Amino acid sequence: MMWKVRKIGAIVLGFLALLFLYEVMGEGAWADSSKCLTCHRDENLSKKDKQGNKISLFVSEAELKKSVHGGIACTDCHTRILDDSHAKKGVKEADRKVDCGTCHERSEKLFKTSVHSIKVHIACKECHGSHSIKPLSDPKSTTFRTNLIQTCGACHPEESKQFADSVHGVGLSRGRPNHPTCTTCHGTHGIKPRSDPESAVHERKIAITTCPQCHAAEQITREYRFTTQPVKSYYDSFHGLSYRGGDTFSANCASCHGVHDIRPSSDPKSMVHKDNLQKTCGTCHPKASVNFARGKIHTLADIKGVDIGEKVVGWIRIIYIILIVTVIGGMTFFNFTDWLRKTIDRRP
Ligand code: HEC
Ligand code: HEC
Ligand code: HEC
Ligand code: HEC
Ligand code: HEC
Ligand code: HEC
Ligand code: HEC
Ligand code: HEC
Ligand code: HEC
Repeated sequence: MMWKVRKIGAIVLGFLALLFLYEVMGEGAWADSSKCLTCHRDENLSKKDKQGNKISLFVSEAELKKSVHGGIACTDCHTRILDDSHAKKGVKEADRKVDCGTCHERSEKLFKTSVHSIKVHIACKECHGSHSIKPLSDPKSTTFRTNLIQTCGACHPEESKQFADSVHGVGLSRGRPNHPTCTTCHGTHGIKPRSDPESAVHERKIAITTCPQCHAAEQITREYRFTTQPVKSYYDSFHGLSYRGGDTFSANCASCHGVHDIRPSSDPKSMVHKDNLQKTCGTCHPKASVNFARGKIHTLADIKGVDIGEKVVGWIRIIYIILIVTVIGGMTFFNFTDWLRKTIDRRP
């Protein structure tokens, strides 16, 4: 009996000793966020940066708890800060660098291929923030689709301003689900410069995927009561045929409509408003007259077309096809009977 009690006692003691060692030597103590917060929950805690500007070192425990990372410790992100030695000014500078990629490998890998990582080295926090990151589906998240005008706009103010006023931006702000936001056209973590053939907005892709992903999608066009005709008719046009043939001088959707400031043709500020067409076409057709630019652009040869011009071309096309079929068919039939007669004649 005594022997048993002693054995259990030894095990418990051993365990307590191990726990003590872990607390003292390991990072166990600092894996507890409340220890960091003893200082950082002070709203007045601050330091001066090299330029002498005051920067706050306050961390809101409530915000952090509410964020997607509410369950992880300070030191899971601040892996280089394992104690409070940084608090003694000048003894050891705290390394504020955070490596989000240890847990988000996939996002980081893709991000490493982007213009934002290769050319300019921006950090994850520039888009996501640091202590109050919300789930993607939360409308308050900095990366929620309607908030990207502000988030990306912090560094791309010109593009964002134009976009906010465009037909797409206005619809987006009204919460319509099928209007594009910055990342619909550009992608998210893998954004490339537009000159890179892999960029989602490379000149070769604009009229194939960038705009047609919506303007040729039956479900979206039905919902907004516009048609897939612009894309179809563009592919049949001079411009579309030479574009698809690889001609880099030909016009794509953006050459005529613009990119971030796209507006309906009825809007006087639209590049395709009738008063602006001479200028728009004129960038490539310097001698374009008013009449040159007057013809409708997105017309399909179709007897069910929306205007008389389309119907006439549609009928001409049908008559043309009937003529071709009768002429070629007639000739084939004539040749066949001729051959048949000769074959029969030649039989012994
Ligand atoms: C004893 C109080 C105290 C504790 C505990 C403490 N800090 Fe600090 N922390 C400070 C002070 C003071 C500074 C400003 C240091 C300076 O002037 O460079 C600071 C700075 C920082 C900075 C900013 C560094 C910079 O240069 O901007 C980070 C990040 C940080 N602490 C994280 C932590 C983490 C994570 C913990 C827990 C592991 C922690 N702190 C625990 C007092 C503390
Ligand atoms: C999800 C990861 C993450 C967690 C968890 C986290 N931080 Fe941070 N923290 C960051 C990032 C990112 C920065 C900005 C770093 C930079 O400027 O490069 C930062 C910056 C800081 C700063 C500098 C002041 C500031 O706001 O920029 C302090 C102080 C700090 N953290 C303390 C803490 C403390 C204390 C905890 C735990 C209560 C904590 N952090 C938890 C990611 C995190
Ligand atoms: C240029 C802005 C930007 C930068 C920089 C950025 N992200 Fe994102 N991130 C986004 C946007 C926008 C979304 C939302 C995508 C969506 O809603 O589908 C997102 C989504 C995420 C998600 C959710 C899962 C996913 O991939 O859809 C994670 C995780 C993430 N980012 C981590 C990171 C990490 C880690 C870094 C740094 C290596 C980083 N992000 C840098 C803009 C950015
Ligand atoms: C210690 C691991 C860890 C670190 C470090 C970390 N995260 Fe997370 N992150 C998580 C976990 C766990 C989730 C929750 C995943 C879930 O709910 O599906 C998450 C969720 C997210 C989400 C929301 C994804 C969604 O689908 O809603 C984003 C965005 C995100 N993290 C960005 C970051 C950024 C930016 C950093 C660096 C400042 C970072 N994370 C650092 C573990 C981490
Ligand atoms: C409808 C698709 C679309 C949307 C939405 C969109 N863009 Fe673009 N963006 C493009 C295209 C196409 C180009 C390439 C233009 C070119 O080749 O001249 C481009 C180019 C850019 C460039 C490079 C400009 C330059 O001249 O160097 C930046 C920066 C940019 N976009 C940022 C944004 C931001 C920020 C948003 C959101 C506010 C956004 N874009 C929304 C299609 C889009
Ligand atoms: C912290 C600032 C910052 C934020 C936030 C940011 N960017 Fe950028 N972005 C840059 C810088 C700097 C460049 C490089 C500009 C250059 O090449 O001259 C760049 C380049 C780009 C380019 C390539 C331009 C080209 O040459 O074709 C695109 C597209 C772009 N960003 C879109 C976005 C989108 C979309 C978002 C939001 C999801 C975003 N950016 C958020 C700073 C930022
Ligand atoms: C995410 C889907 C999406 C993408 C990508 C997109 N659009 Fe749109 N576009 C729409 C929707 C939805 C509308 C309807 C706007 C409304 O009526 O509110 C629209 C409206 C328009 C209009 C005005 C139509 C009208 O009848 O008033 C033009 C012109 C236009 N888009 C051209 C383009 C061009 C050019 C591109 C490529 C650079 C493009 N769109 C990319 C969804 C998209
Ligand atoms: C050569 C110039 C040019 C090209 C290239 C072009 N468009 Fe148009 N687009 C116009 C003009 C001009 C109008 C005005 C109505 C018309 O003439 O049919 C228009 C009208 C539209 C409309 C109808 C809405 C309105 O404002 O009347 C949409 C949607 C549209 N274009 C989308 C596209 C898409 C998507 C592409 C690429 C696949 C494209 N366009 C290529 C010049 C062009
Ligand atoms: C980005 C440059 C660009 C823009 C903008 C542009 N075009 Fe063109 N266009 C071309 C090129 C290049 C060709 C020659 C294509 C071929 O036949 O290989 C062409 C051919 C044509 C043709 C047939 C050949 C001819 O010269 O008669 C017509 C008609 C035409 N464009 C009308 C227009 C109209 C109308 C507009 C404005 C709504 C316009 N284009 C805007 C580049 C452009």
